[in-house]
Amino acid sequence: MNFLDLAIKRESCRRYSPKPVEREKLEAMVEAARLAPSAVNSQPWFVHVVTDPVLLPKVVAATQIGGANLFVKQAKALLIVTEEGESLLSKAVNRHKERDFTSVDIGIFAAHLVLCAASMDLGTCILGWFSEKKIQAALGLDKSTKVRLAIAVGYPKSPDLRRKVRKPAEKMSRFY
Ligand SMILES: Cc1cc2nc3c(=O)[nH]c(=O)nc-3n(C[C@H](O)[C@H](O)[C@H](O)COP(=O)(O)O)c2cc1C
Repeated sequence: MNFLDLAIKRESCRRYSPKPVEREKLEAMVEAARLAPSAVNSQPWFVHVVTDPVLLPKVVAATQIGGANLFVKQAKALLIVTEEGESLLSKAVNRHKERDFTSVDIGIFAAHLVLCAASMDLGTCILGWFSEKKIQAALGLDKSTKVRLAIAVGYPKSPDLRRKVRKPAEKMSRFY
């Protein structure tokens, strides 16, 4: 599958089948994310892969915010992406450039995770809405650990893809 087809195939999946996700596929996603680029190669990330049947519902509960994200209960795995302490070099670069490279790095990391999942016919949904405190408590993380993203994973209930709603190319690009 070429990259554009993969980008079309990747969509936020909000209906999952009961089929469990193979550990090898989750490991492949982690490997794809491990290879992601980051500013000054700081790799300011960590991913917690949760499939344990006792722990998973506790972490899922932390993504249920005011009726949002109910579908996450169907997911067979939940990946929690936390921010790892920046290296001194990346701290210096971030400060010097006044740019938030850590958020950029985490975004690319998440993109590798979800695109790799799509390449293996898995559905994912990146989640920005969750209770950081509840996730920290469920995973036994220190209160200072920044939880940046959660990613629901499972096999899609249906292979049908939605039409992508995006700005037209001329509204988001210019060629010089
Ligand atoms: C940083 C980020 C946070 C998001 N948070 C949520 C969320 O909490 N719940 C949800 O259902 N979708 C969430 N999404 C999915 C977006 O709604 C979705 O990517 C967007 O509407 C485009 O649709 P598509 O992913 O199907 O192409 C999030 C996506 C990103 C990148």
